[in-house]
Amino acid sequence: MKYPGCGLFCVEFGAKQLKNASSGSLAAVIVEPFQGTAGNVIPPDDFMPAVRELANRLGAVLIADEMITGFGRTGKMWGVEHTGVEPDIMTVGKGMGSGFPISGLLMGEDLCHAEPFAKPSASSSSYGGNPLAAVAVAETIRTIQSENLVENSRKVGALLLQRLLELQEKYEFIGDVRGRGLLIGVELVRDRLTKEPLASKVSELIFTECLKRGLLAMAYFPRIRINPPLVITEAQAEAGAQILDEVLAYVRDNVDWRAAS
Ligand SMILES: Cc1ncc(COP(=O)(O)O)c(C=O)c1O
Repeated sequence: MKYPGCGLFCVEFGAKQLKNASSGSLAAVIVEPFQGTAGNVIPPDDFMPAVRELANRLGAVLIADEMITGFGRTGKMWGVEHTGVEPDIMTVGKGMGSGFPISGLLMGEDLCHAEPFAKPSASSSSYGGNPLAAVAVAETIRTIQSENLVENSRKVGALLLQRLLELQEKYEFIGDVRGRGLLIGVELVRDRLTKEPLASKVSELIFTECLKRGLLAMAYFPRIRINPPLVITEAQAEAGAQILDEVLAYVRDNVDWRAAS
C-alpha cells in the first residue's frame, strides 16, 4: 500500500482479484490522472508512472479516464500531460461538447483495428457520429484554442490556488488545498492531524451560505471541489475566493464545527 488514498492500492488489489477470478490475462487498468468526484485529489508525481509500469508488467492496456481532467481543465489540454505518462486509451467527454451530450474514446491505430473492437457492431453506437454533436466538439476545440482557455485555466487556477492556500492559513478546519489549473480540491477537517472530515452538516451550511452570497461551489461535502468554467477571469476568481473567505469566517465565528456531527 504505497499510495494510501490515491487509488494505486485499489488498482493492485483489483488486478490481483481479476487475475485470480479469470485465470486469464488482465485486459486493462483504468485510472483518472487526478481524481475528480472523489474530491479533486492530486496524487504524488510518481503515481501515474507506477500505474503505467504496473499495466506494462501485467500486459494490460492503460486507460486514462479524462472525462473530467480533459479539454484544458487542469491547465494543460490533458491531465496525463502533467504526468509524463502516455496512456493507450483515453476516455473523453463532459467539457468536450460544452454541455452538448457527447463522449468518446481516443486510441492509437493498433488498438483501433484490434478485434473484437474493430468488428462491425462491436464498437458502434446508435448515437455515434452525430453531426450536431460533432459541430459542438469542433466549436469547443476552436474556442479553447482561439481564446487561449488552457492557458487561462493554468493562470487563473494558479491564482485561485494561491488564494485558497492563504485561506488554509486562516482557518483551522481547512486540512488540505491542492489543484492543477481549474481543478482544485479543498479538504475540510475536524482535526488536521487525524484528517477526520468535517461534519457534512457544516459543509452543507458552507454551501448554502455561499449560495446566498452568489457563489455556487461544490461545497456540500467536506471535500470541496472547485471546477469553474474555463472562461473565468482573474477578477471573478478573486470575487469567488472573497465570498468563500467571508463564509468560512462566518462558520468559524458562529458554528461549533468541531463538535458538529
Ligand atoms: C471521471 C468520470 N469518468 C466517467 C464518467 C461517466 O461518464 P458518462 O456519464 O458520460 O457515462 C464520469 C461521470 O461523472 C466521470 O466523472
